Order: sequence, then C-alpha cells, then structure tokens
Amino acid sequence: MELLDYDIVILGSGIAGLTAAIHASHRSKGRLRIALVSKLHVMRSHSVAAEGGISGVLYPKENKDSEDLHAYDTVKGSDYLADQNAVEILVKGAPEEIKFFDHIGVPWNRIGGGRVSQRPFGGMSIPRTAFAADKTGFFMMRSLYDELLSYKNIDIFNEHFATSIISDAAAAYGLVAFDISNGKVKAFRSKSMIIATGGFSRAYGLTTNSYSNTGDGTAMAFRSGFPLKDMEFVQFHPTALIPSGILITEAARGEGAYLLNSEGERFMARYAKSKMELAPRDIVSRAIISEIAAGRGFKDRESGLEYVHLDLRHLDSRRIDEKLPMIKELTIKMLNIDPSKEPIPVRPAAHFTMGGIHTDLEGRIARGDGKGTVDGIWAAGECACVSVHGANRLGSNSLSQCSVWGRITGIEAADHALKDGRTSGDFTSAAEAEENRINAVLDQKGTISPYEIRDSMNKAMDTHMYVYRTLKGMNIARKTLAGLKKAMKQVYIADKGRIYNTNMREAFEIMNLLDLAMIATESAIRRHESRGAHVVTEYPKRDDKRWLKHTVAVKQKGGGIRFSYIPVSITNWKPEERKY
Ligand code: FUM
Repeated sequence: MELLDYDIVILGSGIAGLTAAIHASHRSKGRLRIALVSKLHVMRSHSVAAEGGISGVLYPKENKDSEDLHAYDTVKGSDYLADQNAVEILVKGAPEEIKFFDHIGVPWNRIGGGRVSQRPFGGMSIPRTAFAADKTGFFMMRSLYDELLSYKNIDIFNEHFATSIISDAAAAYGLVAFDISNGKVKAFRSKSMIIATGGFSRAYGLTTNSYSNTGDGTAMAFRSGFPLKDMEFVQFHPTALIPSGILITEAARGEGAYLLNSEGERFMARYAKSKMELAPRDIVSRAIISEIAAGRGFKDRESGLEYVHLDLRHLDSRRIDEKLPMIKELTIKMLNIDPSKEPIPVRPAAHFTMGGIHTDLEGRIARGDGKGTVDGIWAAGECACVSVHGANRLGSNSLSQCSVWGRITGIEAADHALKDGRTSGDFTSAAEAEENRINAVLDQKGTISPYEIRDSMNKAMDTHMYVYRTLKGMNIARKTLAGLKKAMKQVYIADKGRIYNTNMREAFEIMNLLDLAMIATESAIRRHESRGAHVVTEYPKRDDKRWLKHTVAVKQKGGGIRFSYIPVSITNWKPEERKY
C-alpha cells in the first residue's frame, strides 16, 4: 500500500469538487498540496450532464428581482423544510458564482448589451436561471477543468475508487482508495478533506443520472458514524425521456413547451393553474403520474412504461436550435423524433437526492453524537445536506449550491490546513485494515452476482419509493432491501484480476447504494406526512405541527440505525400552504 501525504484531499470531481480545489488553492496562494481524487476521469463527472442552468439574481433592478424573492421561492419550493439561514447564504452567493464562471470562460447565452440571458424555471417567480444553451454543466466543468490544469499544487488522481474515510468520532485523517487501472491500494493522509461525490439516484432503475452516481461519499460517511439527513426526500424530474430516462431539461418548459395527456389536453391546468408546466418538480411529477393513473397516458410497447407528451411543436425552430440544441440532437438520435415536428415521450425519473451528509452552514460534517462537527472534514454539492432544498429542490438551484459551497468549503479546508498541526492518530494501521477489507471483498466466495442485487434494489425503489408512496409498498421495499443486504454476504466478484476490474468497483458501488436505499426507505417509513417529494397515500397532508423537522440517521455500533429529529431554521418565511 502506498502512503501519500497531502494538505487537502478532495474526493469527487464535479462542479463542487473542482470549485473547492480552485478556491482552496487561491486561499493558500498555491502553498498547500491538494489531491483531487475521482473514480472517473474529471470530465466524465456527472456535473457535465447538467443542462438547463444555474440560478442567481444578476440584474435586480432591470428584472424586478431580489435575493429575498429568490430565497422565498426556494423556501416555498422546499415545502418549508429548507433551513432558511442556509438559503440566505445560497441566494447571496449565487450571483458572484455566475460572474466567476463568466470570468473563467463559460459562454453564457446573452441578450443585448452583453447581459447574461436568464430563463424561467419551475417555481421561480422571475426568470433567473443563467444558461449556456442546454449544456450548462458541460461548459461549467470544461472551464473549471481548464482553470484547474494551470495550478501546479493540485494533483489529480483520476480513476481512483475510494472505499473508506479514516476517522474517529471527532476528526477525519484521510481516505483509502484503489487505483482502478491496476488495483493498487493508496492511502491519502490529509489535514483537511472535502467530500463532493454527488447523489445516489442510481439506487433507482429509471433515473436521469449517469451510472457513476452511486453515493459513495455519503455511504462512506455513514459507515464512519457521521449522520445523514433527510434521506427520504428524492427528487423525480418530471421529464425523463422514455424508455432510457435521459434528462429532457426543464428549460424546454422554460422556453414554452407544453405537457399533454393522451387526450391532447394541457393537464397542468388541473394541478397548478397559475404556474402550469413551470410549477415545482414535485407537483409536476405528481400531475403526470395522476394523469397516467387516470388512464390519460400513453404506453411504450418495448418497456411497458407509461408516459405523457412534452410538446415543443409550437416553438419557433430557431429558438430550439439556439436554446435547446442538445434536446433536439438527443431525441433525434435516441428515438428519431424531431421535437419541432413530434412530441417527446416523458415521465418522472429519479434525478436528485435532497438528503445527504448532515453539515453545518459552512459545510462542516456533523458528529454522530450531536456534539458539534468533525474536525478536518467538509461535504459540498449534492452529497451534502446543508439544507437548502428541504423536501423539494427548485431546478437550477443545484448548480448554485455546488458553486457556493464548493467555494465555502474550499476556503474553510485551506484555512484549517494552514493552521493544522495535529497528529493523525493511528492512520497507517487503519489504512492497512481497509486494504485487507478490499482484498477480502475481492476474494469473497459466493454464488450471487452483484448485478442481481442491483436489479432487485432498483426494482424495489422504482416500485415502492417513487412519486406516490404507500405504507404497504415502503414496507415491501424495506423487506426486500434487508434481504438483499443479507444476500450481499454471498456475492462473488467474477473478475479476479487487478487491471480495470470494473466488476469489483461496481460491487462496492452496489454496497454503497444498498445502504443508502435502506436509509432512505427507513426514513420515509418514519415520516408520517406528505411534504415536497415525499408523498404517502395514507398521510396525504403536510403536518407542520409534528413534522416540521429534519430526519437524522446515524449508524450504531451493532449495525442498526438510530433516528432522531432536529429543528428547521426559520428566519423570515413562516410556513404556509403552497399554492401555484
Ligand atoms: O432540467 C434541468 O435542466 C435540470 C436542472 C436541475 O436539476 O437543476
């Protein structure tokens, strides 16, 4: 095992991870040695798939907009579960981040006078989503990556799969990863560490997410005894392409696309009269599933999936070419559908996990015993639950979140590393124990393929933890997942080699997903209300009296999970009924 010493280790290379690396480097004036560890090549990170844009108030006077209004929209969109003090940080920081990306080369769409163009997005009162056509994430990542390559103090470890954080209850000291290209194990010892590994929507079969979104950092944090928060809240994006699940950006509706049922009716009038297709995602997803349940959907013959239509035919084709070119390219390539001539088949698919690693406002990871935060470790981006999205995220608020907390955690981690003089406990023997565990997984003798486990987990989540949940369904999911957890002990890894053993990497990813799927299901079973994306048929109403609180899940020594609840921060906006 190779032992590497760094001042800062950043795990994950999406927008949050890269932003953190750049700001940590700046903060230390290039003095700190930073390792960026990613299981992918940086430019394959899922952030490149972000399409529609990033929110932020750029022109308050001209657009009659304000940070206060952005905050209100976000809090209302969250079904009042977002921490309002965190939302205030988000909306205050977002404009600066959009300008930062402008400076490093993102080609924002613009209107006259060089102003950055902003488009409407669901749940936002004012068009405040900046965009680069429908490839916003790609351009942000490309600019970050170009910028990063000019920093001499950042070492990039592409294709290194992390399996464990080395820590105790009070502090974190580094992590262990294996190099996917040759199977060699490396221990990264650090003064500061940032987890930025994205969400876990791959627990579902139908998802807009790439295969890499397996919640590795979140699962590792949980195994380290760090708390996870609000894991029951999973966002379903209303318009995933059928049957693949590829994202058809909300920007299509922002540019004026309609949702139609099989009777050709713009059915959103029944569910959100004033916002129509631009209601928040939880509402639009429920509307689609309700239409399908009422027999007003279509059926895909190959997959059996039911869907509705997203109709762009009335839009000027120049508008599609200028603002939604990738959507056109995708639908033509995947289904031979030209959206200016035919409607697109869509239905909700798992898209974003609102829950994640419980952090304070600066992204410091909370301790499992509730006594403050863990020394030397932060979480940023989708894997972190700060919480700015509460029970339902508004589209385009995630790129702002990744950028704002990428910057905050990068600066925090740098300041910590600059003054840190601590010893790292018994790092080497903990890392060696982890190396032995990795080898034991590879050598495990069993009869079950990890892919069987993944398929059953996906099916349970797609069926029972979807847009509408029932107590009976969630209990079936609980039972299925518990059975799969046991079956995991009988899993074998067919490829015994060390060179690009993706079979081994995937087995670890499935273990991570399974843990997170179980926590999400357990958290959902315990929340006896409907709020945002968590809707339970038996408890159809939001219940602020009993449930205006965050769920916190912590691993217990014996293997069980302890659930507790903490209050929501309410600063300016008193919970009221959500009407759109
Ligand atoms: O629809 C979209 O372009 C997705 C944006 C988001 O999830 O923020």
